[in-house]
Amino acid sequence: MTDETPLLDAWRRARDGRMRPMQIPGHKMRYTRDAAGWSSDLIGDTVRDDVSYQGGVDDNALSHDYLGRAEELWAHAVGADHCRFLLAGSSQGNISAVGVVADQGVPIAIDRTSHRSTQAALVISGAVPVWIYPRIHPEFHLPIGMSAESIRLVDVDVNGFFVTSPSYVGTMSDVAALADAAHERGQALIIDQAWGAHLDFLPGGGAIRQGADMCVTSVHKALTGYSQTAVVSLRGARGFVSRSTLDRWVDLTSTTSPSGTLLASIDGTRAAMERDGSARLALLIEAVAESRRRLSAVRGLIVLDDSNAGCRVDPMKITLILPGTGVDGVALGSWLFDAGHGPESADRDSIVFTVCVTDEPEWVAEFTTLLISALEEQRGEPRAMAPLPVWRVEPEVVVTPRQAFFSERRRVPLREAVGEVSAEQFCPYPPGVPLLAPGERVTQEAVDAILAAARIGRVAYCSDLTLSTIEIIDELRPLHG
Ligand SMILES: Cc1ncc(COP(=O)(O)O)c(C=O)c1O
Repeated sequence: MTDETPLLDAWRRARDGRMRPMQIPGHKMRYTRDAAGWSSDLIGDTVRDDVSYQGGVDDNALSHDYLGRAEELWAHAVGADHCRFLLAGSSQGNISAVGVVADQGVPIAIDRTSHRSTQAALVISGAVPVWIYPRIHPEFHLPIGMSAESIRLVDVDVNGFFVTSPSYVGTMSDVAALADAAHERGQALIIDQAWGAHLDFLPGGGAIRQGADMCVTSVHKALTGYSQTAVVSLRGARGFVSRSTLDRWVDLTSTTSPSGTLLASIDGTRAAMERDGSARLALLIEAVAESRRRLSAVRGLIVLDDSNAGCRVDPMKITLILPGTGVDGVALGSWLFDAGHGPESADRDSIVFTVCVTDEPEWVAEFTTLLISALEEQRGEPRAMAPLPVWRVEPEVVVTPRQAFFSERRRVPLREAVGEVSAEQFCPYPPGVPLLAPGERVTQEAVDAILAAARIGRVAYCSDLTLSTIEIIDELRPLHG
């Protein structure tokens, strides 16, 4: 543990110094001190604290390597040998981590409930997905973690395993058991821990300490980094993954003009978590537990926790199963958004709230009171739970995502595309898991699920956002290399 913050300190020196660079950034750091700079009414607020890393926090030659030192400190804090700070979120982390074990035409086992960014990794690398599936709760129809058995049962020689934990709804896999199963097969385990950056600072640690070879975490989700910030960490000592390959992938996918401000927020977050993060988390975990207890007393409401989920649940998440109350999660979610307390995600039957280190325990209690009264006010006829298709997609992969991405395509009405092969992604957001992805057979089930998802929220990343048409593969182009 250290209270050293090399990158944050250097960023503060640069911001507070009287720099007037004759190089980029184009805003020249004028708005840091000069609220009356050119068009300040339109520009000032948003770039006030922006200091570029190169030629700002550090010199053009990066002689001080504040970033390298800050990355070492993060790696040490989470039990990794190496890590890289990222400014394109866990999306970039997933692409980079999958890239480490990927190769053109080589199978990789990937959790199909993973975020859409894993598809980008498959397009870029040309790897072939071998989808694996988490267990699904028999009553709540939510993913409840990948079993080690699912890893053992993969009957193809794969180049690595990629699993998402925690899931969007807070359910977690037993990472140590998954790591054992992957290592028995001589393969690496990558964990998308985008939602679980706080786990690294709890007793027992996060995915790396539990045995994963690589781990991706969004610093902006569960912790206090600027939006977009994430870290990919690697424990290479086990010999399953290579540090230089990870660096190559991160460099391939990174901007060459990183924001020193965003990077410094990762350094500051790590130091704050090392200083008193576990004490703070302990208070909030107790507040969430108390909130769950109170919510459990609401008639008909199911509150997801370790006792009913069939797996461990992120102690900072509040996930509610609504059908027994008759409340419509979408309506409740939009009511809460209008009240300024938007949920992480909401569909008709479930709603998810994220609590973070920045919330006070008192606020969690106050929010719980508000939520209970909203649930009572919106109470309706109890109904049966309808499974959400996004957690149960089991696609027929006809061609690789890369082949699909580069193929000749043709647009047809979505409802007439059954039997064709999709050239694009249809992704309800949240949770950002594709219902249909490039290279997958279009089924009637998929079309119905896409249209149903659009009735309750946003379906994104397809070329026709009205969802009347789809691009299907017209002709496969041979891939070279
Ligand atoms: C499981 C998971 N992984 C990765 C990501 C991508 O994270 P980011 O938004 O930091 O790019 C998300 C985004 O919601 C996610 O849910």
